[in-house]
Amino acid sequence: MSFNVLVAYDRSDLSRKAVEEAKEQIKLAEDAVVHIVTVISNGGPTVNATLARSFMNDLAKEARPAIESIRKELEEGGIKCKTDILLDYTFRNPASQLIDYAKENEIELIVLGSRGLGGVGRFFLGSVSSQVVHQAHCKVLVVK
Ligand SMILES: Nc1ncnc2c1ncn2[C@@H]1O[C@H](COP(=O)(O)OP(=O)(O)O)[C@@H](O)[C@H]1O
Ligand SMILES: [Mg+2]
Repeated sequence: MSFNVLVAYDRSDLSRKAVEEAKEQIKLAEDAVVHIVTVISNGGPTVNATLARSFMNDLAKEARPAIESIRKELEEGGIKCKTDILLDYTFRNPASQLIDYAKENEIELIVLGSRGLGGVGRFFLGSVSSQVVHQAHCKVLVVK
């Protein structure tokens, strides 16, 4: 079975650093696949589901180029890569989607940043990284 590594990518500098860390982690593996995954969340409850859907589709379109340029870079370096943009219509923390993805795709290691795009928080770990550390079925590596 291949060594499946998930990078939770939200376009923050630390999630970019997580991509670099994933490259380090697979160096000794014979058959590794790096999964680059971005979750697009529904910002909050809204009266209009159609509007929410179209908004999220726009966000997904916007997220695509960044994730595809990482794929290109990894593949040029001879690394097998899968990319996915997950749309979350519920109001859950995006961590839930990452955790589910990890289970469904036999991920052995999740790499993510301690903080993301959420700006300065009071805590060392953001809500996504904190939930992933607590609930993922596999190893989690937090870069800072
Ligand atoms: N929507 C998302 N999709 C994929 N990965 C994410 C997403 N949000 C956060 N992450 C991952 O979790 C890390 C920590 O982010 P987060 O917990 O959201 O902190 P913050 O509160 O600072 O935004 C990020 O560096 C990134 O690796
Ligand atoms: Mg965040």
